[in-house]
Amino acid sequence: MNKLIVSLLLTLGITGVAHAAGDATAGQAKAAVCGACHGPDGNSPAPNFPKLAGQGERYLTKQMHDIKDGKRTVLEMTGLLTNLSDQDLADIAAYFASQKGSVGAADAKLVTRGEELFRGGNLEKGMPSCIGCHSPNGAGLAAAGFPHLSGQHAQYIGKQLTDFREGNRTNDGDTKIMQSIAGKLSNKDIEAVSQYIQGLH
Ligand code: HEC
Ligand code: HEC
Repeated sequence: MNKLIVSLLLTLGITGVAHAAGDATAGQAKAAVCGACHGPDGNSPAPNFPKLAGQGERYLTKQMHDIKDGKRTVLEMTGLLTNLSDQDLADIAAYFASQKGSVGAADAKLVTRGEELFRGGNLEKGMPSCIGCHSPNGAGLAAAGFPHLSGQHAQYIGKQLTDFREGNRTNDGDTKIMQSIAGKLSNKDIEAVSQYIQGLH
C-alpha cells in the first residue's frame, strides 16, 4: 500500500518534471532577441533590466507565461512573446537557468539593516523573514518556483517590492504572499533589503 503511494507520487513527480523540461541549447538561439536587454548570457548590464542567469526554470517559465498572457505588465516586452510556443518558453527558461548569475556589490551603509530584514523579518509588523522561501543565500527554491534573488540588481528588486506593495504586480498567486509581505515594508526597508540582495551570494 505505502509502496504503491510512493511509486505513484514518484511517477507524478517525474511526469511533472518531464512536462516542463526545456532544451537549453535550443533555448540559446531562441533567446537571441532577449539579450539586447537581459544580456546574451542573462546577466543584464542595466540596473532596471533583471538578470535572468541562474534563475530557476519553473519561476522563469511562469513569469514568461504571465507576461505573455498579460497577468504581469512589462511594457518593454510588448509583443515579444506573442509568437513563442510553450516549448519555446520552456527552452528559453532552460537556457537562462543553465547560465551562471553574476553578483553585484551592496551599499555598505544599508547592508546591516538589509540583512536584519532578510534574515529576521520584522516581528513587530508580523512580517516573516525572506530566507524561509528564498533561502539564506538567496538561491531560492527552484523546484517550488521560489525565485533566486542573490546578485539581482537592487534597482530591479526595489521596483518589484514597490510594485507588489502598490498593487502594480499581482501575479504572486491566490495567497498574495509577496503583496502582503511588501505591504509591511517602508521605502527605507525596501532600499536596504534590495541593496543587501544585490551583494548577496
Ligand atoms: C526592451 C527590453 C527587453 C527585452 C528585449 C526583453 N525584456 Fe524581459 N524584461 C524587461 C524588463 C524591463 C523587465 C522587468 C520589468 C519590471 O520591472 O517588472 C523584464 C522582465 C523579464 C522577466 C521576469 C524576470 C523576473 O525576475 O521576474 C523574464 C522572465 C523576461 N523578462 C524574459 C524575457 C525574454 C525571454 C525575452 C526575449 C524573448 C525578453 N525578456 C526580452 C525588458 C526586456
Ligand atoms: C512564503 C514564501 C515567501 C517569503 C517569506 C518571501 N517570498 Fe519573495 N517570493 C515568493 C514567491 C513564491 C515569489 C514569486 C511570485 C511569482 O510567481 O510571481 C516571490 C517573488 C519575490 C520577488 C520578485 C523576484 C523577481 O525576480 O522579480 C522579490 C524581489 C521577492 N520575492 C523578495 C522577497 C523579500 C525581500 C522577502 C522578505 C522580506 C520575501 N520575498 C519573502 C515567496 C516568498
